[in-house]
Amino acid sequence: MQITAVSVPVEQIQADALIIPVFEGEKEARFSASTLYDTGEVSGKSLELTLLHNVGGLAATRVLLAGAGKREKFDAAEMRRLAGAAVRLLKGKSVKNIAIALEGPAAVAPFASAAVEGALLGDFEPDRHKTGNDKKSVVSFTVAAPAFEGLAAAVDYGRIVGEATNYARDMVNEPGNLLTPARMAEAARVMAAEQHLECEVLDRDAMQKLGMGSLLGVAIGSAEPPYLIVLRYKPAKAEGSAHLGLVGKGVTFDTGGISIKPADSMEKMKYDMAGGAAMIGAMRALAQLKPPMPVSAYIPCVENMPGSRAQRPGDIVTAMSGKTIEVINTDAEGRLILADAITYARKQGCTHLVDAATLTGAIVVALGHMHVGLFTNNDSLKDRVLAASKAEGERMWPMPLDDDYRDYLKTAFADIANVGGRWGGAVTAAMFLKEFAEDTPWVHLDIAGTAWLDDSKPFLAKGPTGLPVRTLVRLAMDWRD
Ligand code: BES
Ligand code: ZN
Ligand code: ZN
Repeated sequence: MQITAVSVPVEQIQADALIIPVFEGEKEARFSASTLYDTGEVSGKSLELTLLHNVGGLAATRVLLAGAGKREKFDAAEMRRLAGAAVRLLKGKSVKNIAIALEGPAAVAPFASAAVEGALLGDFEPDRHKTGNDKKSVVSFTVAAPAFEGLAAAVDYGRIVGEATNYARDMVNEPGNLLTPARMAEAARVMAAEQHLECEVLDRDAMQKLGMGSLLGVAIGSAEPPYLIVLRYKPAKAEGSAHLGLVGKGVTFDTGGISIKPADSMEKMKYDMAGGAAMIGAMRALAQLKPPMPVSAYIPCVENMPGSRAQRPGDIVTAMSGKTIEVINTDAEGRLILADAITYARKQGCTHLVDAATLTGAIVVALGHMHVGLFTNNDSLKDRVLAASKAEGERMWPMPLDDDYRDYLKTAFADIANVGGRWGGAVTAAMFLKEFAEDTPWVHLDIAGTAWLDDSKPFLAKGPTGLPVRTLVRLAMDWRD
């Protein structure tokens, strides 16, 4: 999709369809729209869409009145949804060249970025593997706004972030046969070469030498070899001393291993690498946006399989940190691979860590599909992440992580068990990771409930959501020591 900004009067905007946000309780008098309010056809309610043809005096062929809700509640998140819903409706009608008018208080940078992000996210379909030529796609999206300082940069920001999010979504959507750990590493290498990022891929031998027994224990049940992807971005001149480390779970398929999962919905476990894909996507955007701090990503990639060589319940492995782990349940594999990746990130000099993982079914029980579960050992890093998530409309909710949850992970046979029993499953999983984050400021994002949409929304197709790419990019871009 071609993305541009123009600053011309509304009547002169060239497009097959021009999106005009309209607000609840405010009658739009232009575009022969006022009678539509009288009949109740248009109310301005959030995501209400009304397509008009043959509107006189406009260069645009059609006008799409897009409900923006109450003006006082209108924010960047609402703008993103509005643009997404509008693009999805227009795309369904094979409209190719779309523009959106930002007027009055909406003609500011955050709204311009959000409109572009919304358009790109709304255009995405998880149908790469469908054959046939009935695919509909938008050709161009133009942000029309009165000229203001930073308009072009804001539109660029939205494009870069939107494209990186869709890149991650495509990767998440790939099935386990097509996206193995080796292919995921290859994809990261290709992206890094295109974006001028440093990329290093550790293979089984390298990880063995580093003592990553926790990660490698998960991988031994699969014929697919494991890889640890490392991506590095370094600014020309770093401000401050912070080095952000992004750690993402990259289980390309999770059968559960010997503690095997039920068949029902197991096909969805192809999205168990969504945390890793989000980190690769965020790095892709950061390579272009160039934040003032170094950012490195660590993505442990494995396939969790049962088989005659697979890890057994009761096995004891030694993590890179030196701690021993009793593997009570082989389906709690995400924390096992993240433990070694977190240790490695710390040893590589990361001063702050954020991990993202489709870690537990329990977080879906706790928060449903609305909020990411956020866990931390550091309140100031938590505040930074929450501020970024709010700006980007990726909802997150802080969860507890008191020391006494550690009791649930006690075992007589090793330093720590990989599961904590029936209750508080998302918290005990986070507690396990905390053991390896040690004293490094760290935030853990459990995205099991939010990385995948079971049903499409007006502004987003079903399938991978790309969370939390936008938050991570914003976090690095807004970082000030
Ligand atoms: N990948 C799953 C978590 C998951 C569940 C992600 C549902 C997305 C949707 C993870 O590896 C897992 O299996 N966790 C177990 C942990 C349990 C064995 C303690 C779970 O949540 O059931
Ligand atoms: Zn699992
Ligand atoms: Zn898993």
